[in-house]
Amino acid sequence: MVLLDGKKTSSDIKDEIKVTVTTMKERGEKVPHLAAVLVGSDGASLTYVGSKVRACEYVGFDSTLVELPDTTTEEELLNTIKGLNENDDIDGFIVQLPLPKHIDEQKVLMAVSPDKDVDGFHPENFGKMALDMESFIPATPFGILQLLERYQVETKGKHTVVIGRSHIVGRPMSILMSQKGPAGNSTVTLTHSYTKNLSEITKQADIIIVALGVPEFLKADMVKEGVVIVDVGISRVPDASKKRGYAIKGDVAFAEVSEKASFITPVPGGVGPMTIAMLLKNTLLARERNT
Ligand code: GUN
Repeated sequence: MVLLDGKKTSSDIKDEIKVTVTTMKERGEKVPHLAAVLVGSDGASLTYVGSKVRACEYVGFDSTLVELPDTTTEEELLNTIKGLNENDDIDGFIVQLPLPKHIDEQKVLMAVSPDKDVDGFHPENFGKMALDMESFIPATPFGILQLLERYQVETKGKHTVVIGRSHIVGRPMSILMSQKGPAGNSTVTLTHSYTKNLSEITKQADIIIVALGVPEFLKADMVKEGVVIVDVGISRVPDASKKRGYAIKGDVAFAEVSEKASFITPVPGGVGPMTIAMLLKNTLLARERNT
């Protein structure tokens, strides 16, 4: 069994980006600038956004964190987005999800200029991605493709089963894995809450990508020998033995499934760190495309 080490791979990618930024600086060019908008004080979101800002500092990007209170109205948030769209110094920005319930998420994501949409959540980018056109690929799917590619996991002609049809991971992943190109050319089955006999399907999978958010959902008796496992789940499960009071669990029962797998991502240290590296990559692409 080979661990698909997202910590190491993301670190390699960040170092590659850092080298590019150093060259940009030496040439007197403007370095990429990423902004993140955080509404409210959700604990996990604060952690994610903090990691994104630190990653920007590491590679030499400029970064701006816009922190807004829980009470922010939809109109105020849309005005903030308009300001970022019009600010020539900002190459790309993200609005951290989830948003407070009184704000329409779809309306907010539609307001982000597609040229600065480094999360790849705008319908224009999603449509272009699905049509093999130049776009921003959402960071988590982009990170999974990179992991598979860098570990030379064969995807061509393989049966990939995606569990979960979220707009951020499952749906785009199902499209990307079927496309021509690196980490593509796979035969894809997209499964979800109405799928019947799920384990009959997962047992036929060469590659399983699980993005459900249900801790330790995928068990050893649901997979075949030699399967490739990509675990996108990160749930906080109460654990009194931990100082912080919780443990981080993926969607895969790692101990038992790893015994049958040929490749598997750990949680933490698998897909999670890749997401941040690919957000940086998209910001670099935004800088290059907007030049
Ligand atoms: N919340 C969970 N994942 C993501 C992500 O990739 N981008 C944003 N903006 N919010 C998220």
